[in-house]
Order: sequence, then structure tokens, then C-alpha cells
Amino acid sequence: MIRRLSAVAIILGLTSISVRGDDAETSKELFIKSVWPTLQANCFKCHSDKKQKGELRLDQKATAYKGGESEKPSIVPGDLEKSQMSVRINLAEDHDDVMPPKKPFLTKEQKEAINKWIQTGAVWVELERSVVAEGEDKEQAAREVPPADPATLKALQDAGALAGPLAQNTNIVGVNFMRVAKDTNDTHLPQLQKIATQLEWLNLADTKVTDAGLANLKDLKHLTRLHLEKTDIGDAGLAHLEGLANLEYLNLYGTKVTDKGLASIAKLPNLKKVYLWQTQVTDAAADAFRESHAKLMVDNGWKPPAKQPEPESKTVNAICPISGKPVVAEHTFNYKDEEIGFCCPNCLGKFKDKPEDFIGKVVRVNKPAAVGATATVGATVTVGVTATVKATAEVKAEVAAKAFNSKCPLSGKDVDPAHTFEYKDKRVGFCCPNCLAKFKKEPDTFFAKVVP
Ligand code: HEC
Repeated sequence: MIRRLSAVAIILGLTSISVRGDDAETSKELFIKSVWPTLQANCFKCHSDKKQKGELRLDQKATAYKGGESEKPSIVPGDLEKSQMSVRINLAEDHDDVMPPKKPFLTKEQKEAINKWIQTGAVWVELERSVVAEGEDKEQAAREVPPADPATLKALQDAGALAGPLAQNTNIVGVNFMRVAKDTNDTHLPQLQKIATQLEWLNLADTKVTDAGLANLKDLKHLTRLHLEKTDIGDAGLAHLEGLANLEYLNLYGTKVTDKGLASIAKLPNLKKVYLWQTQVTDAAADAFRESHAKLMVDNGWKPPAKQPEPESKTVNAICPISGKPVVAEHTFNYKDEEIGFCCPNCLGKFKDKPEDFIGKVVRVNKPAAVGATATVGATVTVGVTATVKATAEVKAEVAAKAFNSKCPLSGKDVDPAHTFEYKDKRVGFCCPNCLAKFKKEPDTFFAKVVP
């Protein structure tokens, strides 16, 4: 059964909204706890990266406020009547213009939260789209369980975690410490045992949990998805996970796990995906592991070049356009029909804020660039850290070879291959993003300097 998961239910009924104190704080909290999950669950299907019905896109701040084809603003802080978002969601369900246009309509609580959010200043917070429940379709055998202990959920929420049901009509729970990662440590883990029956998704990425702390996860038998990336976890921690028979997804990116840790993972019967980028697992061990677990996708950054196409990363770039670090398969964003990859959610957030500023920095590796050369660097690029550094140089060299000019037409300095722009069938190179931006404003003026 395919069921659309959403984070909506996390919020409803669990938070009472207090107006006292600072409006901006209220607004921010409402956005995080209710508005964003609602948009994600009820609006993104038609108004986000893939589709923009009514030319409206609601998954990034600038376009969400601006509105769509009506040219009326969708969000005007403090003004419900001028905010089309509020106007449209508050119409009667049988009204032609109500949003969403069909079931499931927003609940009274959802509408109230959006209204109040706008009234208190419509504070937008840059959040990862995959909060507790990525709004992706997920195949899920409906497991019937009693509701999770509300006091435990409340305690987790009070600690700043996103904690609640994964969908509207299920008691299965996800817990995500993303927003408070740096303040999260082993002391937050024992309470998870109280919701072991319901807990399927757990995100501890970037937190301060330790190997010893993971002993608290031993009895979370229903976990299917566990994020431990960018923690100090090593082999000793993994040993505690050996009994998690339902675990399907394990992200160990940037941890201290070594070849030895693979032995613990090898015992997990349902594991389908493991991320081993930037760990101490050797390529040889990862290969051997991959060979011995045919159904398992082991991503240590290296993909056998000929055997299969990239399973997960369909990004056009291998290097994050913001940081220059390797792209991590999970952090991608579709912009103008291209899947752009980033190293981390922060960079993704920055890009979403001002895509125009960064799009010029995207080095496309899989697509042959304009000037004929067909070398696809893609296959060799997505190696772990050390190799990626080398790969960056390769990519640069590759693009450099294709840049039409060697000196920036604006500054006269050497061209940096990271900053190029396709104009009149020529790939024009620049020394820096500023010059590139200036060029875009008056291309003909400067193009004449490249091609007299
Ligand atoms: C099933 C698809 C679908 C869903 C889901 C949906 N919308 Fe829409 N939306 C549309 C279509 C189609 C239009 C354009 C036609 C129209 O204006 O009624 C539109 C237009 C709009 C507009 C007017 C944009 C403009 O400036 O013209 C707003 C505001 C809006 N939607 C808000 C929302 C919000 C908020 C949600 C979620 C609570 C949502 N929509 C969910 C399909 C959808």
C-alpha cells in the first residue's frame, strides 16, 4: 500500500499556541511546528520544485511570499486579507478557488495556525524539506500500533525535537533532532525506549551522541531508518545496533566507523542502504561487503563504473557549488529542471535563498559542455574525500579546457573554471562570481571583449 506520509500530525493536538511574549518567536515556532509541515504535506504536491500550479512555488521563501499568476502576494506579514494563501485556504470547501482544491482539505487547526503565523509576522525559517517525514511516497506496510505515549512525545518536543506520527492516520512515529542537533546528547536517548513500539524513523545526525549512548537504541526493534551521520560514532556504537532487525536505512556518513564496524552491519537482515562516505572504511572492505550483500546498496562514494548507473545521485554536479565539498546524495534540489547537489542542508538552504547567485557556480560533470568535448567526468568523480579533491581538479581542468577565453573579460585576470557562463554558444569564463554577474547584466558589451 502506498501511503503519503506527512509530518502534519506531529503538530496537531500536541502544541497549544501561546501568544504571550514576542510575536516573532510565536510566528517562528508556528512555522516550524505547523506551517511548514502543512505546506509540505498539503501544498508541495502542486506548488514546489516539481510542479508550480498557478505559477506558485511555496517551498522557498522568495516565491512563497511573492505569489503566482494572479500577481497578488501570497503572504503579506500581518495582513490576512492581502495574503492570498490565507484567503484561499479559508474559502469554503466547495468554493471554486479553495486551496487545496480537493481532499484532503486543511483542518481547522491547520488553517488557524497559518492565519496566526501570518498575523504574527509570517517569519520564515529555512528548514530542510525532509523533516521527520519526507513527504515522499513511501511504501509501507501499515503496522497497527497503539498511540505513542503523549508525555514522551511532549518531552521530546520540549527538548526541540520534531517528534510525532509519520502520517495522519498512523501511530507510527518519527523523531528528528535536526533543529537541536548540537544540544542533543546521550541523555536524550533513554526516553526513546518508551516509544519503541511506535518509533520507526530516528534522526540523530550531527548530534553529540556517543558509542556508549547507542546502547539505548538496542531495543528500538522497529526502527527502519537511522541517521547517525556526522556524529562521533564508531565501531563500538554499531555493535549496539546488531539486533535492529527492521533497519533498512543507515547513514554513517562522516563517522569514525572502520572496516570492523561492517561486521555489525552485516548482521542486519533488512538493510537496504548504507552510507559510508568519509568514514574510515576502506574501499576494499566496502567492495567486499557490497559483493557479499547483493541486495544492499553500499555507498562509500565509489560506484563500479560500468556495472550500474548511479543509483541515487542524479545530480548534474559532483561538487557543492557553495562549499566546494563533495555532493552528498541526500541533499539535492531541483532548479530549472536540473538536479543540483550539495554537501549539506546548510548549503542547500543558502542556494534556495538565492539560486541566481550560485547557479553560475555549478560545475556540471555529467553533461558534456558546449564546445564539443564529450568527456563525462561523472563516473570518476563521486569517490570519497581524498579522491574527490583530485576529482575537483580534474573537473576544473576539464571545464577550463572548454572555457573559450583564458582571461576574464571584465577584470583581465585569469579565468577560474568554476565561474563560466554559456553565451551565444561560447562558454565564457570569469575570474569570480561578481564579474560573471556583471556580465549577465550587459552580456553584449563584455562579450565583444572576448570575441572582438
Ligand atoms: C492538487 C493541486 C494543488 C494543491 C494540493 C494546492 N494547490 Fe494551490 N493552486 C493549484 C492550482 C491549479 C492553482 C491555479 C488555479 C487557481 O488559482 O485556482 C493554485 C493556485 C494557488 C494560489 C494562487 C496563486 C496565484 O497567485 O495565482 C495560492 C495562493 C495557492 N494555490 C495556495 C495553495 C496552498 C496554501 C496550498 C496548500 C494548503 C495549495 N495551494 C495546494 C493547485 C493546488
